[in-house]
Amino acid sequence: MIVDARGVSRVFSMPAGPVTAVREVTLQIRDGDHIAVRGPSGCGKSTLLHMLGCVETQTSGTLLFDGQDVSRLSDARRSLLRLRHIGFVFQRFFLLPMLTARENVELPMSEAGLPRAARQQRVRELLEYVGLAARADHRPSQLSGGEMQRVAIARALANGPRLLLADEPTGELDETTGAQIAALLDRVNQSGTALVIVTHDPALANRASRVLTMRDGQIESEQVA
Ligand SMILES: Nc1ncnc2c1ncn2[C@@H]1O[C@H](COP(=O)(O)OP(=O)(O)OP(=O)(O)O)[C@@H](O)[C@H]1O
Ligand SMILES: [Mg+2]
Repeated sequence: MIVDARGVSRVFSMPAGPVTAVREVTLQIRDGDHIAVRGPSGCGKSTLLHMLGCVETQTSGTLLFDGQDVSRLSDARRSLLRLRHIGFVFQRFFLLPMLTARENVELPMSEAGLPRAARQQRVRELLEYVGLAARADHRPSQLSGGEMQRVAIARALANGPRLLLADEPTGELDETTGAQIAALLDRVNQSGTALVIVTHDPALANRASRVLTMRDGQIESEQVA
C-alpha cells in the first residue's frame, strides 16, 4: 500500500466562510495502480491530488503514506518523502526557464544528494527514455509543448518515485501530442510506478484501470476496468 487515505477533508477558511474542497474521501493507492480522476471544474480534483502528494495537509481525516501519518511529519521529513517517493506533472509543465532540459531533470537528484557521475548517467537514461536525448541542451523556450511535458515527466521520475501524480498533463497539448504523452505515462506505469492522473481527456482516462469520478469534493463513483 502506498497511500491509505481515510475520511480526508480539506476546508479552506475564506473571508466569506469556509470552503470545503474535499469532503471525507477514503481512497487506497497500491503499487502499480493506474488511476484516473475525473469530474467537473471545482469538484476538488487538484486539492485531492495535492493531499495524496503530501503537498497539502488535510484538515480532518488521516492520510498514511507508506504507513506513516503524513500530518505528524515535520516539514523537512515531508519534503524528503516527496523528493524520494513522489513525482508531480502539471498541465503547464513548470520547468525552470533558465535551465536546460538536462539541468531541469538533474535538479531533483542534486536535491536528493546523488553524486554527480550518477546524476549525469541517470539524466542520460531518462532523456533517452522519454525520447529527448537530442534535446538535452535546449531550454524550455526552445522546446515544443509535448517536449516540455516529456522533460517534466523525466524530471518527475528522477528519483525513482513509487507514485506519479499528474494534473491534466495533456490539457495544453493537441490530440496527437497528448496521445504520445498518454503512451509514455502507460510505459511509466508498466514499469511499476503507480499513477494518479487528473484529466478531462477521455483518451487518457480510458487507459486507467480505476476511474474515479468526483463531485462536490467527494468520490461519487469508481469504475474498475
Ligand atoms: N487555496 C485555496 N483557497 C481557497 N479555496 C480553494 C483553494 N484551492 C481550491 N479552492 C476551492 O476548492 C474547490 C476545489 O478546487 P480544486 O482546484 O481542487 O478543483 P478542481 O476539481 O481541480 O477544478 P479544475 O478542474 O477547474 O482544475 C474550488 O471551489 C476552489 O475554489
Ligand atoms: Mg484542478
